[in-house]
Amino acid sequence: MNLTIVGSGYIGLTTGAVFAYLGHAVTCVDVDREKIDALRKGRLPIHEPRLQELLSAVRSNLHFTFELPPAVSNSEVIFLTVGTPSLADGSPDLQYVRQAAKQIGESLGSGYTAVVNKSTVPIGSGNLVESLIQDAVPKEKSGAGGFSVASNPEFLREGSALSDMFYPDRVVIGCDDARVLERLDSLYQPILKQDFSPPPFLPRPANLKNVPVLTTDLASAELIKYAANAFLSAKISLINEISTVAEKVGADVHQVAKGIGMDSRIGGRFLQAGIGWGGSCFGKDTAALIATAREYGITLPIIEAVREVNYRQRAWVIEKLLQELKILKGKTIGILGLAFKPDTDDIRDAPALDIARRLLDRGAKVKVHDPIAIPRVRQEYPDLSLTYCDSLEITAADADALVLATEWPQYGDLSWENLASKVRHRLVLDGRNALDRSRIEQAGFRYFGVGR
Ligand code: UGA
Repeated sequence: MNLTIVGSGYIGLTTGAVFAYLGHAVTCVDVDREKIDALRKGRLPIHEPRLQELLSAVRSNLHFTFELPPAVSNSEVIFLTVGTPSLADGSPDLQYVRQAAKQIGESLGSGYTAVVNKSTVPIGSGNLVESLIQDAVPKEKSGAGGFSVASNPEFLREGSALSDMFYPDRVVIGCDDARVLERLDSLYQPILKQDFSPPPFLPRPANLKNVPVLTTDLASAELIKYAANAFLSAKISLINEISTVAEKVGADVHQVAKGIGMDSRIGGRFLQAGIGWGGSCFGKDTAALIATAREYGITLPIIEAVREVNYRQRAWVIEKLLQELKILKGKTIGILGLAFKPDTDDIRDAPALDIARRLLDRGAKVKVHDPIAIPRVRQEYPDLSLTYCDSLEITAADADALVLATEWPQYGDLSWENLASKVRHRLVLDGRNALDRSRIEQAGFRYFGVGR
């Protein structure tokens, strides 16, 4: 099939690369000319494991352009994967969705076109996209093959987006028209049946035989996306709230999480206590859900509390440092990790940066290390007076405390004896409960984990 992906961020590129791998002719469109030029030269604008390799492997099926009309007029399926950042009131900014819908309407080809929304949009936006496209269709083309809109929410995690796309837990398709369902069903067949040959660098998980598809109406698919992110962020906030109790009563939240996660009704994933979630999704989508509910005159006290607990969690680092060091003015704190999670250079709503700002406000000197996110922080926050360090030895030199903010795998295997000889005070705050406590203590550090 001929596919167009409108919006070449990490969702658009992942979707495009996977369908190109499955044999379709894919055109990725973006309004950012610099990004398209870079992609044409084989350079990725984001860090996503294995995406570079996959893009190179599928080059003959994948094209990049900033001209939407020719791509759209030739397409059987168009995916909308543009950004929906938060506005000041928490509601999502739909300007890119609106622009894309209008341009799609102006450029539709003569055959039937399936328009598939993968951008996270408020409930009811499928209908909005449909009416925007309809309004933009030129009169002389109004009798042509027609189009319909489906919602096909994505559940990709940054850092493992390709595996999540090739090997999803489920595919959700929301639509009110059998034609779009038929087209998407055929497009997704290799993923649903798991009968494609996996890329050598992304092996299929053992025991994955097939993937279920859930077909719903448009509004339900749109709500599934928000409800999934609300539920996952709630799981994390719940264990973080329990961690505050664990810390007071002398329990270990890690063991508590294990104990409750063994109950299959609860499940063990997303119960890692720490300094809380960040990134471009949980914060934005929980705020958008609250904003949607407000439009209908309802409040969402659980989701509001989930957010409050999450942002409060970041203060744990400051409280512990004050407890141990008493005065932060003039102290040197080394932060390990800036990205909102490992395996990405994404720093949107990253807890590490929030914590760094609070420390700077209190007069501390903040040294930071991250395997890949430093260039992005320098570029996006040129005024932040952080000391960027190329190595962990430099981060540790004369530090009064080391704080783990992102659990990059390489931090799990540090020579703590070596770092102990560099620091001024041997104090480690493990903000992700990811480090080996006994090794750190053997090197003479005092160790604090969250809720342990
Ligand atoms: C999240 C969802 O997991 C995806 O299913 C969804 O498609 C995506 O949002 C989206 O809406 O586009 P993502 O934000 O990329 O994916 O990453 P996650 O792995 O969910 O991590 C989010 C944050 O939660 C990170 O800061 C991570 O460190 C934190 N986290 C995660 C915890 O603090 N504890 C956990 O147990 C798990």
